[in-house]
Amino acid sequence: MNSYQLPTGSTLLHNPRYNKGTAFTEEERRLFHIEGLLPPVPLDLQRQIARTFIQLDDLATDFQRYRLLNEIRARNETLFYAVVMSDPERFLPIIYTPTVGEACQKFNHFIGSPMGLYLPISAKGRVRDLLSNWPEKDVRFIVVTDGERILGLGDQGTGGMGIPLGKLALYTACGGVPPQTTLPILIDVGTNNLELLHDPLYTGLKQPRVRGQEYDDFIDEFVQAVQEIFPLCCIQWEDFANMHAEPILRRWQHRVCTFNDDMQGTAAVTLAGLYAALRITGGSLKDHKFLFLGAGSAAAGIAELITLALQEEGLSAEDALQKVWMYDASGLLTPERKDLAPFQRRFAHPHHPAQSFLEAIQDLQPTAIIGVSTVPKLFNQDVIRLMARINKRPIIFPLSNPTSRSECSAEEAYRWSDGRAVFASGSPFAPIEIDCQRFAPGQSNNVYIFPALAMAIYATGCRLIPEELFITAAKAVANQVTQEDLDLGRIYPPIKKIYDVSLQAAAAIAEHIFRLGLARTAPPDDLLATIQSLAYKPCYPSLM
Ligand code: NAI
Repeated sequence: MNSYQLPTGSTLLHNPRYNKGTAFTEEERRLFHIEGLLPPVPLDLQRQIARTFIQLDDLATDFQRYRLLNEIRARNETLFYAVVMSDPERFLPIIYTPTVGEACQKFNHFIGSPMGLYLPISAKGRVRDLLSNWPEKDVRFIVVTDGERILGLGDQGTGGMGIPLGKLALYTACGGVPPQTTLPILIDVGTNNLELLHDPLYTGLKQPRVRGQEYDDFIDEFVQAVQEIFPLCCIQWEDFANMHAEPILRRWQHRVCTFNDDMQGTAAVTLAGLYAALRITGGSLKDHKFLFLGAGSAAAGIAELITLALQEEGLSAEDALQKVWMYDASGLLTPERKDLAPFQRRFAHPHHPAQSFLEAIQDLQPTAIIGVSTVPKLFNQDVIRLMARINKRPIIFPLSNPTSRSECSAEEAYRWSDGRAVFASGSPFAPIEIDCQRFAPGQSNNVYIFPALAMAIYATGCRLIPEELFITAAKAVANQVTQEDLDLGRIYPPIKKIYDVSLQAAAAIAEHIFRLGLARTAPPDDLLATIQSLAYKPCYPSLM
């Protein structure tokens, strides 16, 4: 947009994309008729950031900081991203998990600015019209939820809007995806949350959730309307209930550009941790045996991707499956069990029923245990000591969230394995020192994957997202773990480097997209340089 097309006067000050607030220069103030509408002396972006830090420090809780940052985002997008990107380690937990959970619960009462699009099922047949109401015409990324399974908090109705808003902020802050290309969407099919249904201030549809054919038809209408209105758009499904997440992904993943971060992002980031762990344990994936504690949706996604990665190393599909075992609330998964879902049957291998997880470890001699059980402390002292007896460097991944549900703490894993555990967790643990050795454990956080994938899709105009791209993403993240990280026990790069890590990973993923012939653009000579030049940077453009 050139200076003649920009809004002027107070309209410019209310446009978050072009508003600079006190950073408008004197010339800009004169040209755009905002002289006198701001205090007279301009401040540059660095000083605006410093002022925002003072305001943030003055607040008592992270939810209050979330609200302040959200207000800044609605007023001055550049300042919002400049603040967040100045210190991702500090601000990611405020703009996304864990604080975003509280924001979703309080959304109807506290969060006012409509920065996303709502698609109520009462508008069925007109989704196309509603999408056309979005002011930006070149939308490349939609993150969409129906609010039914928000983090571990269950049904939050339209309060679930906090999730696509937060996730897309991470696309930009961590992966450099230009914010004007992103669109957060909440599909409202009602809510089964009684508290919301009885709340006079609730602004979503006050009806029980629509299920079955009517629900499926509405999702179909949504996907088709997106193809029409935003033909280059990638759709990311987020926080849908398991019964919808899997069928929606399977229905569309071979037809349009789409992925599910809860399923595929989780799997990829865990695989990234395993690839980095190999640099400590030595060998390749096929030298390992994986025992999952928990056989639910997280286990299924991770296990399927590990199996695919094993096949990439040359194993047959059958041999790859034999490397992956699962133990759930009813014991070891074996073919005799009558309670298994189809996805679990693939990982049920003949074996006598183990009496305990400890016995399963003793029998199977796994090199890695992956906790996705939602039950805290199941990786107890006996479990970890046994893993450390069997393996020189046992891989211990307690992935259950939040911290209170982690199968063990970092300290327990390191202490009980005499400092030999190769550790990553779903929730963060602070650095610790044991017997004069310092450990800074890494967090298996999907943010290492989806912003990088998004940037690769943006740079290539990718048409479809095959599973193998998640293996490439995992390898690209693992390759950026330094020896210094490994020496500290950290098998993921530090979050403070997330922007650079994501752009490097995006280049590797984009290269694979070109190789598969899935790009809509021609491959540039220097992929990384092209991605770096396309990536969003939080600075004010000159409007003169
Ligand atoms: P889910 O409810 O689908 O599955 C839980 C599984 O644990 C079931 O198979 C159940 O039988 C098993 N289980 C329950 N009690 C058990 C016990 N006492 N012993 C053995 N197994 C037991 O849950 P879902 O969606 O698979 O998530 C599991 C956990 O993984 C959650 O805490 C979630 O926060 C975490 N997670 C972590 C991610 C990450 O680190 N990036 C990503 C996704 C999930």
